[in-house]
Amino acid sequence: MTALLTDVAEAARLLRDGQLVAFPSETVYGLGGDATNDHAVAGIFDAKGRPHFNPLICHYPDAEAAFAHVVADERARKLAAAFWPGPLTMVLRRRPECPVALLAGAGLDTLAVRVPAHPLTQALLRETGRPVAGPSANRSGRVSPTAVAHVLEELSGRIAAVLDGGDCTVGVESSVLDLSSGGAALLRPGGITREQIEAVIGPIGTALPIAAAPEPTLRSPGMMLSHYAPGLPVRLNAAQVGPDEALLAFGPPLPGAALVWNLSPAGDLREAAARLFAGLRRLDEEGTRLGCKGIAVQPIPETGLGVAINDRLGRAAAPRE
Ligand code: TXA
Ligand code: MG
Repeated sequence: MTALLTDVAEAARLLRDGQLVAFPSETVYGLGGDATNDHAVAGIFDAKGRPHFNPLICHYPDAEAAFAHVVADERARKLAAAFWPGPLTMVLRRRPECPVALLAGAGLDTLAVRVPAHPLTQALLRETGRPVAGPSANRSGRVSPTAVAHVLEELSGRIAAVLDGGDCTVGVESSVLDLSSGGAALLRPGGITREQIEAVIGPIGTALPIAAAPEPTLRSPGMMLSHYAPGLPVRLNAAQVGPDEALLAFGPPLPGAALVWNLSPAGDLREAAARLFAGLRRLDEEGTRLGCKGIAVQPIPETGLGVAINDRLGRAAAPRE
């Protein structure tokens, strides 16, 4: 049985006890476990069905706590001052004394650290008093959860509890920035845009998804091309839509679809990001029930948060591995 909790102290007690608790954040719900507990960390991989080569993000209440476990250079400190708490994850080198289980970082000498902004997550991390490892609270390869109901759909019976923090306001995951090797590479576009990061530390590079990289690389193992996969096929940049399709609209909706979820009637990218994963889930379920042959997606501008939205939609539409 998975308990639905509103009490932060109870959630923290379960985490300290080595149990798995899904928690809200401003981006998506995370599947939390005590990052210093090997058994809890192994349980996270099991509950998600996640390959052990794909490392987890560790969550901290503030930069000081995070930087006690990883080596922060000048750039990391500037970015922390600008964007923490908030939807930015930094990949940095582990300190030798870092107590986080090696499995959490998939055995790498780096660790992805993040300081979430959601007040309930903040309270949970302070109360737990340990770093909390937390991938998105979905089964591996599926759409990330942005509401308690989604978490229960994905993980009910596989984790001890879910802490209810309402719907996630950002809606796409944190941006993952690798600063571990001297350079800077955006491994995953997310809630903080490239432009925002570059305004603080200057130009940064982009890591290619595995399938597109010249050589297979495990630099960012979670960025496999096919991910966020709904059951129905996804068709991008639709200029028209058929009566046997579900439509993910942006701005004025195309006419004629069997079913419509509008990300943002006004064409607002923030609103669209917040409604993205709930929309994919809804169209997939309802579209399947109505016998639709696929999900058509209207074009979304490749600016600001649109970059993260298009990244997730590209993965949802990619051929299944
Ligand atoms: O918004 C978020 O980031 C959410 C919330 C719960 O914090 N978490 C999340 O975690 O999206 P997850 O595990 O679904 O995605 C983490 C990404 C993966 O692509 C993983 O490969 C990458 O970060 N990552 C983690 N540790 C890494 C490391 N040491 N080096 C390179 N990439 C790493
Ligand atoms: Mg994920």
